Amino acid sequence: MFSLSANSDIPTEEFYQQLDEQLAGLLSGERDLICNAAQFSAFLMQLVPDLNWSGFYFSRGNELVLGPFVGKVACTRIPFGRGVCGQAAQTQQVQRIDDVHAFDGHIACDAQSAAELVIPLMVEGELVGVVDLDSPVAGRFSADDEAGIERLVDTFIKATDFSWQR
Ligand code: SME
Repeated sequence: MFSLSANSDIPTEEFYQQLDEQLAGLLSGERDLICNAAQFSAFLMQLVPDLNWSGFYFSRGNELVLGPFVGKVACTRIPFGRGVCGQAAQTQQVQRIDDVHAFDGHIACDAQSAAELVIPLMVEGELVGVVDLDSPVAGRFSADDEAGIERLVDTFIKATDFSWQR
């Protein structure tokens, strides 16, 4: 059994520092993409407060296809440019949305979702997919959360072999 813990009463930067150390430990010794993506999704859901969906979409040509995730069933394919995930893929920029209902073209998978954070997965300059986090709390993701999650995504990328996906 893994013993993971997070104290969210500390400054956000420290909180993610603690998570980052635990993530590096969790993924050490395993480089398989599907395995690490599944673990990372569950890790985020377990330790980051107030999430209702955590997971991956992978690039297939000009669209994203659903990968490992934790949460309610979701849409399977998202063309680049559509919704928050498609915008992140097309622009290769992080999308941090306080209120998805005010985002033109948002794709609703879970009516509970209010805030969304989507991080493009860049490997050697190439977009291989996105990490998508949803929260039922509007404005859930601060700039510090964005920086912290980006750091975790970086650790995930370094720990993982993407040759199968690419
Ligand atoms: N809301 C996303 C779709 C994916 S789900 O949230 C899991 C979007 O607008 O791209």
